[in-house]
Amino acid sequence: MNFYITTPIYYTNDIPHIGHAYTTIACDIIARYNKLCDNDVYFLSGTDEHGQKVEKAAVNAKLDPKIFVDKLSSNFKNLITTTGCEIDDFIRTTEERHIKSAQSLWNKLLENDQIYLSHYEGWYSVRDEAFYQESELIKNNGKYITKEGSPVEWVKEESYFFKLSEWENKLIDYYESNPDSIAPKTRFNEVLSFIKSGLKDLSISRTTFKWGVPVPNNSKHVMYVWIDALCNYLTSIGYPDLNHSKYKKFWPGTHIVGKDILRFHAVYWPAFLMAAELSPPKKIFAHGWWTNEGQKISKSLGNVIDPYKIINEYGLDQIRFFLFREVPFGNDGDFSKNAISKRINADLSNNYGNLIQRISTFIVKHCNSNLKPSNEFNDEDNKLLKNLYNKFNDYYNYMNNMQIDKAIKSVMELLSLTNAYVDEQAPWKLKETNYKRMEVVLFLVSNIIIKSTIMLSPIIPDSAIKILSIYNLNIIKIDFDNFHKLIDKNISINSPKPIFPRID
Ligand code: MSP
Repeated sequence: MNFYITTPIYYTNDIPHIGHAYTTIACDIIARYNKLCDNDVYFLSGTDEHGQKVEKAAVNAKLDPKIFVDKLSSNFKNLITTTGCEIDDFIRTTEERHIKSAQSLWNKLLENDQIYLSHYEGWYSVRDEAFYQESELIKNNGKYITKEGSPVEWVKEESYFFKLSEWENKLIDYYESNPDSIAPKTRFNEVLSFIKSGLKDLSISRTTFKWGVPVPNNSKHVMYVWIDALCNYLTSIGYPDLNHSKYKKFWPGTHIVGKDILRFHAVYWPAFLMAAELSPPKKIFAHGWWTNEGQKISKSLGNVIDPYKIINEYGLDQIRFFLFREVPFGNDGDFSKNAISKRINADLSNNYGNLIQRISTFIVKHCNSNLKPSNEFNDEDNKLLKNLYNKFNDYYNYMNNMQIDKAIKSVMELLSLTNAYVDEQAPWKLKETNYKRMEVVLFLVSNIIIKSTIMLSPIIPDSAIKILSIYNLNIIKIDFDNFHKLIDKNISINSPKPIFPRID
């Protein structure tokens, strides 16, 4: 199967924070899981470099916008490597290929009679780069602001409009017949009721500033940043060339986005696409927002979490694990140092790390570093094997549904059951009384460690490589048809180094 996954493209108005890292790591986990399943994966990220918000930030920095975005874009690109994410393309909306693509989409919409010239008068939030109805705003000290607290300004200008209202019924029909195309379910319902409440035509150009993709044949206008930005998902796979091998192979894609930008992706984007005679996205998944020790993360509160710093402090895989184990993917979560230490110690050090450490050290010490295959299982062993298959099934179903937290939890439960089995079987006693039985126990537990590590590898890729190298193995893919198969040859074990040190 071909699988195309995208992060939102990040605004180059400021440096990246943990929220940005979260979206990219989510996509990386899903991309890596799909690779494990032997799917052909294309993973895109990038930066959203036009619009009033970015232009204002460049003016504040006293830099030419292009010089400014060059600098800020590279921070986001570096963060991808730092967070252990493996992308196939990094797109910047100031690139030539993208400008050509966005203008082609515009021309296609024009050709299909989807765009007209008129005047816009209403509220606009530069922070959100979004138009608002007065009914969506609240008053604060006599001034209108959005419900999330973004300031708005009154805008009055000539503008091109997209005939969004024409797509209301078609979008409703589309979503009613494709209920899995937006997840989680609550978000699907939210989008559907928003569309049902009525869609107005959408202003898609601006004239009061210059930092944007020029509207073809009217140099007074630049494109509204969202039509420009959304188009990045097409640019990377070769649009406007519909015969491009990547387009043919990968469109439509799966978009992972924060809940704040769901409307742009689930209402405007499919409407633009259908209006341009292209397929709407395969799936849109909206995740929640992180707070810091209970508070909204914001620059003005001075509580922005620097992903570089936090990774340095706790370790990359530890942070990747925490972010996706702690909070159901789709819900909001709270980032607290206490929660990070607790989670790392309980799951990674005490449960997983401890099992790896005690079993592999034991094999090195008492079995001449040699793990021997066996199939002489008793009832207790078969019970544990059954747990392995059940938990693997749960993992598989959860991962396919992007319930990453539940998938991880299934593996953690399997590891707890395995630790309890080791305590009961007590190989250190069997060493004296029944050496052959001891070898069976060590063999079974090693198989569970290996299979659990493969399941966890999308979440903790570096540690998975280290753990499998104790067993002289590489991860290639999950062989679903043969998941029940255990190792069938002698394996020599390397002396383990602690993988997940405890945090004090
Ligand atoms: N440029 C637009 C996206 C265009 S996509 C065609 C944008 N950029 S952004 O930089 O503001 O946000 C990018 C992503 O980061 C969004 O999905 C947003 O939800 C996410 N996050 C920003 N802060 C966040 C948290 N505090 N917590 C979790 N994710 C957050 O929107």
